[in-house]
Amino acid sequence: MIFGSLLSLCCICMFPHSDRLLIKGGKIVNDDQSFLADIYMEDGVIKQIGENLIVPGGVKTIDAHGRMLIPGGIDVHTRFQMPDRGMTAADDFYQGTRAALAGGTTMIIDHVVPEPGSSLVAAFEQWRSWADSKSCCDYSLHVDITDWHKGVQEEMETLVKDHVTVMWRLLQCSGSTCVPHQIYEAFSVIRDLGAIAQVHAENGDIVAEEQRRILELGITGPEGHVLSRPEEVEAEAVNRSITVSNQTNCPLYVTKVMSKSAADVIALARKKGTVVYGEPISASLGTDGSHYWSKNWAKAAAYVTSPPLSPDPTTPDYLTSLLSCGDLQVTGSAHCTFSTAQRAVGKDNFTLIPEGTNGTEERMSIVWDKCVVTGKMDENQFVAVTSTSAAKIFNLYPRKGRIAVGSDADLVLWDPDITKIISAKSHNLAVEYNIFEGMEVRGAPLVVISQGKIVLEDGNLHVTEGSGRYVARKPFPDYVYKRIKARSRVCLRGVPRGLYDGPVCEVSVTPKTVTPATSAKTSPAKQPVQPVRNLHQSGFSLSGAQIDDNVPRRTTQRIVAPPGGKANITSLG
Ligand SMILES: *[C@@H]1O[C@H](CO)[C@@H](O)[C@H](O)[C@H]1NC(C)=O
Ligand SMILES: *[C@@H]1O[C@H](CO)[C@@H](O)[C@H](O)[C@H]1NC(C)=O
Ligand SMILES: *[C@@H]1O[C@H](CO)[C@@H](O)[C@H](O)[C@H]1NC(C)=O
Ligand SMILES: *[C@@H]1O[C@H](CO)[C@@H](O)[C@H](O)[C@H]1NC(C)=O
Ligand SMILES: *[C@@H]1O[C@H](CO)[C@@H](O)[C@H](O)[C@H]1NC(C)=O
Repeated sequence: MIFGSLLSLCCICMFPHSDRLLIKGGKIVNDDQSFLADIYMEDGVIKQIGENLIVPGGVKTIDAHGRMLIPGGIDVHTRFQMPDRGMTAADDFYQGTRAALAGGTTMIIDHVVPEPGSSLVAAFEQWRSWADSKSCCDYSLHVDITDWHKGVQEEMETLVKDHVTVMWRLLQCSGSTCVPHQIYEAFSVIRDLGAIAQVHAENGDIVAEEQRRILELGITGPEGHVLSRPEEVEAEAVNRSITVSNQTNCPLYVTKVMSKSAADVIALARKKGTVVYGEPISASLGTDGSHYWSKNWAKAAAYVTSPPLSPDPTTPDYLTSLLSCGDLQVTGSAHCTFSTAQRAVGKDNFTLIPEGTNGTEERMSIVWDKCVVTGKMDENQFVAVTSTSAAKIFNLYPRKGRIAVGSDADLVLWDPDITKIISAKSHNLAVEYNIFEGMEVRGAPLVVISQGKIVLEDGNLHVTEGSGRYVARKPFPDYVYKRIKARSRVCLRGVPRGLYDGPVCEVSVTPKTVTPATSAKTSPAKQPVQPVRNLHQSGFSLSGAQIDDNVPRRTTQRIVAPPGGKANITSLG
């Protein structure tokens, strides 16, 4: 006995912040099963799961009374503290992660947005320093590629290798800032690095034309935002990204699925076997774009985000159905809030309104209310779409996204019966207008545990600024890359046939990519001449035409060896 207390005294010296917690009588809900058990955690890690656990004396104990214990939510898409034309989004990493924790989310993945032309690594370090000093929950980072220039590829490799982050590319094709990216080349690079291509699917050229047309009609308010971004334009951009991703055998992740058409394109591609994932967000699942026509300018402006919310009020119901049946897989919030005064920069011109909606706090409750309460999905599927699938796709699993021995002690005691009305007055954010104002939702966290510590209890938040850790992620997540690797081994073969030795016609117009020296006179046996389109240079772009549209070419070229390097995935993985 004395020896025992000496030992624990010793442990206290070695781990002064050691946190021990026992949760008794909870119903543990993972994405694949639910069962009753007790959980013991220590130093931020789950140590034991079972019945009649032997734990040190004096441990803090929570009685769950049979309520559900779920893995903490993972919000795959936030933009806290986002810079925009000298302004900064109202919720920084402190306020943003506080709001996330209040809603049952214990990890966020934020987007680094480098200035076009600037260093990706420098931007990454900048975001790290912001988040390290302020974040109250664990976090990781995606890096957006705003510009495709020489050096980007090297920096991508550096980020993947030295910083162990799964590098993502985001094709930010919004408004007039759209740069024609070399998507084919980029996707090939991403695949070789074992990352996942991420697209924000919009067609910047069409949007720019539409904005001009709408402004010319004298429409300057927030409704102009949605009028200039028709749903079919989002769907077309998703379609095109999927086509290139399938051709390059590069996994694709579509952020911010806002419309029925875009969701349908993803669902159809998945049925055909493409490795693609779709992320609807709190806003597209919980509300719709009819509010852009609100007579209250500040309210209408609060909904401005791209792609826009669909004005079709049946969209949220449609998207929650697709999320429930597995056609869409992950939920984020795309939380990026600007105050009414900041949005008012665009009071006379909707194209100048800073974009983004809130939703990190509301995400879990919205999904529970719209999907589980309605009977579309069960509690396990709820865990999948709010946490586990994100952990698998982003290579955080099973450290995150699962309640298991050895996993991080990020847990939520979920109360399915709490009903609350979302209101700007009660939320934990620094902005004035809630796009979900007045919405009644069932289901909310009762207790939230982050890194083994209780951060929400009895409605009170106890968070520590800067306690969030950066979570590194390795490339080649199995969940995504097993299929990609298998596909890379499927080879195409030419047809073995005798040589053609008949007459060959002289041609005067030589296609650009064929060097004149190897023209028609040479024997085809020695110098096979193919007007092969230089795919390496071709500018597949979400913004419109291909840069070599003027070059004559055959229409039936098959891609045998993808430029940008054949995937040598077996050796890398
Ligand atoms: C993209 O659009 C084309 C033409 O409409 C269609 O044939 C194709 O199936 C679409 N692809 C996807 C993935 O929806
Ligand atoms: C993806 O590519 C494969 C092989 O090239 C093709 O069979 C399949 O139809 C494509 N899928 C889609 C959705 O385009
Ligand atoms: C609105 O802002 C855009 C820049 O986004 C500018 O090109 C356009 O001229 C402005 N139009 C009006 C009517 O102020
Ligand atoms: C976000 O939500 C809060 C309430 O939760 C609200 O006050 C705020 O205005 C919202 N922000 C936006 C941009 O809609
Ligand atoms: C592919 O990997 C193998 C094994 O590591 C290596 O020998 C080979 O040189 C690599 N090929 C290319 C094209 O990088």
